[in-house]
Amino acid sequence: MKVLLIGGSGFIGRRLIPLLLARGDSVTSVDIAPPVGLPEGVQFRRGDVRQFDEVIAAVAETKPDRLVNLAYHIGSDLPPQVAFKLNVLGMQNVFEAARLCDVPHTIYASSLAVSGLQSAYGERMLNEDELRHGTLQYAVHKIFNEFQAQDYREKHGTVITGIRPANVTGPDKLFGSVDHVHCITAPARGRSVTFPFRDAMRCPVHVDDVAEVFLRVTVADKPKHAVYNTGGHTIGLGELAEMVKGFIPDADIRFEKETGGREKSGNYLIDNRRLVEEFGVQYVPYRTRVLQIINAIRAEEGKPPISG
Ligand SMILES: NC(=O)c1ccc[n+]([C@@H]2O[C@H](COP(=O)([O-])OP(=O)(O)OC[C@H]3O[C@@H](n4cnc5c(N)ncnc54)[C@H](O)[C@@H]3O)[C@@H](O)[C@H]2O)c1
Repeated sequence: MKVLLIGGSGFIGRRLIPLLLARGDSVTSVDIAPPVGLPEGVQFRRGDVRQFDEVIAAVAETKPDRLVNLAYHIGSDLPPQVAFKLNVLGMQNVFEAARLCDVPHTIYASSLAVSGLQSAYGERMLNEDELRHGTLQYAVHKIFNEFQAQDYREKHGTVITGIRPANVTGPDKLFGSVDHVHCITAPARGRSVTFPFRDAMRCPVHVDDVAEVFLRVTVADKPKHAVYNTGGHTIGLGELAEMVKGFIPDADIRFEKETGGREKSGNYLIDNRRLVEEFGVQYVPYRTRVLQIINAIRAEEGKPPISG
């Protein structure tokens, strides 16, 4: 199958590419940033998702069976015009190109951020049908992306599927929620780290697992649902710190306050049954992933791995 992946140089995209190649798919990666260590056999084309001419040219020339859009700004700090062009207009360009070129299936990343704070719902699991309470720029753009996809499905019958990753984790994560990542990577580097709240809650899911989710949904012809939660492993930062100390006993992880973070936490109780039942996804245990991240950092620093 021919896959055109926009945003393929990023944290998730560079994991998805090898999974597609391993299946024998032909992959073209379009990104504004040059790839680091692009595997052999992948076509790279520099392109800007904000420019419709560039998106439609890439889609018309490659005639993909699948179009995946991962190009985005993760954060809510950009000026409105800049964020809108990348996150909303960029998504629009992808969906419109998919429609005009009859792409059989288009896949895009939404986010757990659409739900906003867990405290808006109380302590209960949330599935994809809940009202979305996100209020930050990033969250509202993702909510609007889900509407854009729905509008294309309803008005044009375009097959478009959204995936809402939870708090993606991995040793090289730079953007988005990074406290749960630094809680692992800082001690692995022998550095101290301090967080505001011990009881802040997260729902981490390893980037290799997320790439596998994107793979399974991407290769499907027509998933049953419009959007899927990846879900993840619900954990407080304090509990994560204890898990890390189990591997690195002298880890120096501090908290300024014991309580107060839980009510400020984003959605951390996530129901991913839709994904599990339809795609048979099973994640590697989170504890194993934590050790994997520690050992990735130790390898970078020339240190031997810690055994589980
Ligand atoms: N990482 C997470 O924790 C997380 C969680 C939930 C949702 N998501 C979503 O998953 C998607 C991928 O996330 P990621 O972590 O791989 O992000 P990332 O920032 O690592 O990758 C995004 C890629 O898009 C590219 N890009 C940026 N502007 C572009 C433009 N104008 N034209 C073409 N390419 C452009 C970047 O160069 C980068 O390679 C995003 O939509 C993100 O919102 C990520």
